[in-house]
Amino acid sequence: MRKMCTVVVADDVQANIDLLTGLLVRDGYTVHAALDGGAALELVAREQPDLVLSDVLMPVLNGFELCRRLKGNRLTRLIPVVLVTALGERESRIEGINAGADDFLTKPVDAHELKARVRSLVRLKRFTDDLDSAESVIVSLALTVEARDAYTRGHCDRMAAYATAFGAHLGLSDEEVEALRRGGYLHDVGKVGIPDAILLKAGRLTSDEFAVMKRHTNIGETLCGDLRLLRLVRPIVRHHHERLDGSGYPDGLAGSDIPLLAQMTAIVDVYDALTTERVYRRPLTHEAACAEIEDEARRGWRSPELVGEFMAFSRSGRLEELAAEPPGPRPLAGGASVMSPAAR
Ligand SMILES: [Fe+2]
Repeated sequence: MRKMCTVVVADDVQANIDLLTGLLVRDGYTVHAALDGGAALELVAREQPDLVLSDVLMPVLNGFELCRRLKGNRLTRLIPVVLVTALGERESRIEGINAGADDFLTKPVDAHELKARVRSLVRLKRFTDDLDSAESVIVSLALTVEARDAYTRGHCDRMAAYATAFGAHLGLSDEEVEALRRGGYLHDVGKVGIPDAILLKAGRLTSDEFAVMKRHTNIGETLCGDLRLLRLVRPIVRHHHERLDGSGYPDGLAGSDIPLLAQMTAIVDVYDALTTERVYRRPLTHEAACAEIEDEARRGWRSPELVGEFMAFSRSGRLEELAAEPPGPRPLAGGASVMSPAAR
């Protein structure tokens, strides 16, 4: 069952608080009140309410500043803020919009309007809560996979950084760049369904083991489910091991049938695998990794145009800058030669 809906009311006039509280409590909301913006900020941090209803003129922090702080904090930015302004305060509304306010009510507050606005914003908040938690569960799973293998530590963060920078270099839309970021975290989430004996095996995988390993693409796609938020991410998860000549998996797609974002993710996946230390080899230099990727294009695995763009992007120096960021060096263990993780 859902928790009761909570509203924080901020107003420096006790009579206004009493009025708003009375209306909301009658409608089944739990109300916490603050007499200034500073106290309201603390209350919101503590109670994580479903909505904030704030007056504009208040001591310590005014309503705009309160709103700005709430919207600027990752932990509170999704909480809707309704500012209560005096009639005809056009300037206040504009400043409120700039501060990130979600809606406005005019004094004196009309009870029906208050209830309708609060109800619809709380419904929206619950919806974003659901999306937020669904995505964070999947990202946690992806990081769990990464944590199982000491040699891939930081891989998700780097993948997300490389892929979004590459996407920005190509001038992709914000939505596509965001999908690349999420794809960076989620591309290998399906490895959660691959046993340690295969995932962490230092030696060459047998063909049966490789067949199991390949399933991480399908498992990952299933884990992403029907979330609309992951609409553009799902093809990345499923197709990041396809090759341009059709020799990849899981579907053996060829040429432009392979989604562009999946092709981009495949290139940065190879780059990261080659430039980080693995159980069987030291990291390649940036130049050697780029040469290897160009070689994959010559072999027919990658699009020569896309690899050309990747090389142009790499010459900007951004890739090496991102690669140089933490986490630091990983332990080196000896010897066995295996199929490269990027090829897995
Ligand atoms: Fe993968």
